[in-house]
Amino acid sequence: MPLEIVRNDITRMAVDAIVNAANETLLGGGGVDGAIHRAAGPRLLEECRTLNGCETGQAKITRGYDLPCQYVIHTVGPVWKGGEHGERALLASCYKSALALAKEYRCETVAFPLISTGVYGYPKAEAMQVAVDEISRFLLENDMTVYIVVFTRESVDMAGKLFKEVVAYIDDVYVAEHYEADREARRSARVDRAPANGLFRRPHREDTARNETIFADSAMPAPRANLDEMLAHVDESFSQMLLRKIDEKGITDAECYKRANVDRRLFNKIKNNPAYRPGKQTALAFAIALQLSMRETTELLMKAGYALSHSNKEDIVIEYCILNGNYDLIEINQVLFRLDLQPLGY
Ligand code: APR
Repeated sequence: MPLEIVRNDITRMAVDAIVNAANETLLGGGGVDGAIHRAAGPRLLEECRTLNGCETGQAKITRGYDLPCQYVIHTVGPVWKGGEHGERALLASCYKSALALAKEYRCETVAFPLISTGVYGYPKAEAMQVAVDEISRFLLENDMTVYIVVFTRESVDMAGKLFKEVVAYIDDVYVAEHYEADREARRSARVDRAPANGLFRRPHREDTARNETIFADSAMPAPRANLDEMLAHVDESFSQMLLRKIDEKGITDAECYKRANVDRRLFNKIKNNPAYRPGKQTALAFAIALQLSMRETTELLMKAGYALSHSNKEDIVIEYCILNGNYDLIEINQVLFRLDLQPLGY
């Protein structure tokens, strides 16, 4: 997946380059700067001393020494002063400068902390938005895998509104939790109605069947695709339907797989092999990228051998977003990330 948000200690990231949220002296400090210098060892500071500092918004590169990465890209974020002093532009410049250096040094994988969101006080949600915007813009034109490494849980707060709506929707439709609770309620109700002799009356088969039927009816019916439409393309493979939808939407292959946060190589595998069946998260990522309706999404998933299910929380999140016209994959992945669920894309 070209852009991933992960919860980790950036000094543990085994990538080509990690980015350090430094200060203009480049001579170390606290927070992530301190952690990186501690993990890299004294030779990092020795090399930093030769760089003569770094201006805010700019970036400089050193080796990684004892870190599991080849390079450290030091950038200096803005100190938050309320948002009216060019902070956003300077923060955006940090990501641009660091990515340009990573590209110059032919890095294929890069990990960023949330620059300026610690000591420098930049609000995390706004900072995350800047990071996602700048990295996504870079990835539209470049092949690289970029990680945003969050160190604490609240760092992914920017998906707040969608997150709250999705959690409520999961509560409404999630089968497993409700089913267990309902079954427990039914079971205890039957115990209450048990005959006086105290023996618990085991439910007759039709009872159980009836409960299953009732429950199944009460669950939201899975969206039924239009049968004629589906039969019209019954022999069409996943790959063929994907390419047809790309043409119908009037976008390029690259726009599609970039929007889907899917690696170019995987897309080419799908495109060149009509019988290829991707993973469910990849198939769903393409449905979001193509802004498919529920019916079209159901059809595309079926071509890959999958179906949406209310017993799967990832599916419920996607269903909610599609039914509400939210096709912002990064925001959806942040909600999935916060729910410790599998993100979309590959
Ligand atoms: N891995 C990943 N992220 C981390 C780690 C870590 N090991 N340690 C801290 N962070 C996170 C913080 O939670 C915060 O969200 O990095 C983000 C940036 O926080 P800071 O390190 O305080 O950096 P910043 O806000 O840019 O301030 C820079 O602090 O450490 C000094 O020398 C540095 O003067 C400079 C200033």
